[in-house]
Amino acid sequence: MVDLLIRNASLPDGRQGVDIACKAGLIEAVEPGIAAEAGEVLDAEGQLVSPPFVDPHFHMDATLSLGRPRMNVSGTLLEGIGLWGELKAQQTVDEIIARALTYCDMAAAMGIGAIRTHVDICDPDLKGVQALLEVRDKIKNYISLQLVAFPQDGLYRYSDALDLTIRALDMGVDVVGGIPHFERTMEDGARSVRTLCELAAERGLMVDMHCDESDDPLSRHVETLTQETQRLGLGGRSAGSHLTSMHSMDNYYVSKLIDLMVEADLNVIPNPLINIMLQGRHDTYPKRRGQTRVRELRDAGLTVGFGSDCVKDPWYSLGRADMLDVASMGLHVGQLSSREDMAWCFEAITTNSARIMGLEGYGLQKGCRADMVLLQAADPIEAIRLRATRLAVVRAGRVIARTPACVAELALENRPAHVDPSRIEV
Ligand code: FE2
Repeated sequence: MVDLLIRNASLPDGRQGVDIACKAGLIEAVEPGIAAEAGEVLDAEGQLVSPPFVDPHFHMDATLSLGRPRMNVSGTLLEGIGLWGELKAQQTVDEIIARALTYCDMAAAMGIGAIRTHVDICDPDLKGVQALLEVRDKIKNYISLQLVAFPQDGLYRYSDALDLTIRALDMGVDVVGGIPHFERTMEDGARSVRTLCELAAERGLMVDMHCDESDDPLSRHVETLTQETQRLGLGGRSAGSHLTSMHSMDNYYVSKLIDLMVEADLNVIPNPLINIMLQGRHDTYPKRRGQTRVRELRDAGLTVGFGSDCVKDPWYSLGRADMLDVASMGLHVGQLSSREDMAWCFEAITTNSARIMGLEGYGLQKGCRADMVLLQAADPIEAIRLRATRLAVVRAGRVIARTPACVAELALENRPAHVDPSRIEV
């Protein structure tokens, strides 16, 4: 007797006609024709079952605050930071919790099973930290939340930011963050990276820095992050988020830099939706895309995971917790159009991001956590193409969200009565 039996699933690795049995929160078997009694049976009808989406970069303390106290008129990162500072002074812990929980309802329904969120610690009351620690606990049965202590206004630019970072970590924040390109000088930026990496190494924590989120080709803090990752033995547990300046860097310099990043085993988290919107704002034409060098970083062997970064906040007015939308934007901006490249974009929002976050028991093998999502699509490429409907979201072997299939009724002469975009034969 198992708790849940999913029949006739296609898997991201291409297997078809597979059954998945879930028992006591874990996957008990993944094979065709499982003959077991089940508390609940879910017929996948040949559609794709994937491990949950993983968002490795988000700002949950700011989400759903769009328009408060006003809109970002210039559309730049810097106006967004200024606007966030105005909201930060006004908002309460309860307001942050309410917005975050609303976001997580949406994220759960969209099949996101884990989120790494940065939380701004540049606040003497640490309201965001208080709020998101509570949220982490409230949502633990449906989303695994990892918190990053993020000195939004600069470790050295904002007084007491180092003390506040330490306080946040003492309160239970999981990961050490930073923002070297926002410090007053290049030297301060490099110093902030060193200090924060040492703090992480002392405490055995992971690192995830907003790094070089600019179009300035001379913003090279990723070099220091790479060096510190290697020096302190943080390989595989240290990530550079955004890395947009790499788009504009000198090609010779990048050819050396990427080798160093590989030696250090630095993880990479581009945020395609946000950076295609924010970067190049000081350009006329041609306008730079601003996405880091995804193809080259991936081909060198680095783990690259796409993050969503923002949903309806001072930096980005759109978004709906749709990691397939994130993958689609990363695919387009990076011109990742071969079949292999498109399939890899699905990995960048699932397995790669799970590896970056260090999630245990992630995957669809026997013994993994029984967390998965049934999509209205035949395979990963179709899922991205269609931003496929999440027909069912499973957590610990229980269906926690369902969305009706997207099927249109047609009233056309001599044409079918229905059209299901996932079942179109070409
Ligand atoms: Fe960010």
